[in-house]
Amino acid sequence: MSSAHIPSIARRLLLLAMLALPLAGCGHKTDEAWQLTDIAGVMPDLQFNLTNDLGQPVTAAAYKGDVVLLYFGYTHCPDVCPTTMQLMASVVGELGPAAKDVRILFVSVDPRRDTPAILRAYTQAFSPNAVGLTGTLAQIDAITRRYRVAFSYGKPDKFGNYAVDHSAGVYIFGPSGRIRLLASDTNPPSAWLHDLRQLIAERS
Ligand code: NI
Repeated sequence: MSSAHIPSIARRLLLLAMLALPLAGCGHKTDEAWQLTDIAGVMPDLQFNLTNDLGQPVTAAAYKGDVVLLYFGYTHCPDVCPTTMQLMASVVGELGPAAKDVRILFVSVDPRRDTPAILRAYTQAFSPNAVGLTGTLAQIDAITRRYRVAFSYGKPDKFGNYAVDHSAGVYIFGPSGRIRLLASDTNPPSAWLHDLRQLIAERS
């Protein structure tokens, strides 16, 4: 089984469409240069109502003050999810002590299979800074609509296994919960590191 992710051409078109939107309410200083894609103002602030990987209800308020890397995927994903999680884990690890203010939130688009316990084992295998989030199908629909994340289920094989096509972008929120950057596994670790350090510096 292979997971056919949204083709990169479609991702690029989506990105272009997003960049065409006016950058309203863009409050950051003009001398800041970003190496990832600046999407400040083109997506809503961090907000959700989900269940964490300990099985507890959680909202964005739990991560107030943290720099948040929000990613959507599923634990059975054979390719882009593990690649992206590994990249984020490695970059966050390189931040050293500053990593304490950074959270990787992995939202499952496959809540029927991704129980909190499965998500916990999956995310902790990558990074102590990673948290798995799941919820009802209605809750997952709400957050994916909010961030315009596309996903669809493939036909199950004779064993009941199925792939889930999904967008593979990472939404990065500043400490105030505002959307700031869009990244993916195509961005080099140096770009992630540079921009995360800049966002963490905004905390003080
Ligand atoms: Ni995936």
